[in-house]
Amino acid sequence: MDTMIHVRELRKTYQMGEIEVPALRGISFDIQRGAFVAIMGPSGSGKSTLMNLLGCLDTPTNGQYRLDGLPVEQLDRNLLAAVRNRKIGFVFQQFNLLPRQTALENVALPLIYLGGVSAEERHARAQQMLELVGLGDRLGHRPKELSGGQQQRVAIARALITQPALLLADEPTGNLDSRSSVEIMRLFEELNSQGITVVLVTHEPDIAAHAQRVLSVYDGLLASDTTPHARRDVHVPAGSIRNGDAGAIGQNKRRPSIVRRPPVMSMRRAL
Ligand SMILES: Nc1ncnc2c1ncn2[C@@H]1O[C@H](COP(=O)(O)OP(=O)(O)OP(=O)(O)O)[C@@H](O)[C@H]1O
Ligand SMILES: [Mg+2]
Repeated sequence: MDTMIHVRELRKTYQMGEIEVPALRGISFDIQRGAFVAIMGPSGSGKSTLMNLLGCLDTPTNGQYRLDGLPVEQLDRNLLAAVRNRKIGFVFQQFNLLPRQTALENVALPLIYLGGVSAEERHARAQQMLELVGLGDRLGHRPKELSGGQQQRVAIARALITQPALLLADEPTGNLDSRSSVEIMRLFEELNSQGITVVLVTHEPDIAAHAQRVLSVYDGLLASDTTPHARRDVHVPAGSIRNGDAGAIGQNKRRPSIVRRPPVMSMRRAL
């Protein structure tokens, strides 16, 4: 088995002055490469804390985290940032787009952090990503000139531009109406069918139903681990990729592939 995420006895305790807040109290699980996993649980149960650890945005107080074989808990800040930039795309409930930047500039931003990519290539790749998520005609729009669903698609395009092997999303549909939520979930399914491992937090059973496996977190512990669905692959039309066609996932148009190189290979090479 090809393990993407391996966590053992993961603990996170926040220190609030004198008071310790145990947000995660020893969580263990593996997630295989190519999986589509939903994390559920009540408010305050530790879901975002767990996602922040998985996304290398924070470090555990205790326990082991291997990401694609790398012992994350042993990496220093610089290496952690490198792992985050190269392996992980993160999507948040609040979109977290820069308000003064256009959709194109927002999407291109991670490539600036990554370094070594010319302005011309950054522009071309950002445009390609926006076409992929169906926003090829909104390149120059600023966030406030876009709908919520469109802003989240910009955020997903931004998360994908570094060709991550792992896409983490913390309540990505939490601020969206049901129609936009369905579109976003279709997009995640499509990305997963192209080989990206997807882990998302949701409160909504309808959203979790898109996943092959559901991890439930309760009071900082793993309460259940179920596999309600067999894999439901999304059909990717043959020949629709690698030719730079514009189009939108979920709108039955031909489109460019996000995976110009297999993500697994490219990430291995990158690190
Ligand atoms: N930065 C922080 N400092 C101190 N305590 C925190 C911090 N972040 C989270 N907590 C606490 O840790 C616990 C878990 O919080 P977390 O945000 O992970 O919950 P959650 O499951 O994502 O909840 P929600 O569904 O409301 O988003 C909560 O009790 C919360 O108050
Ligand atoms: Mg949360």
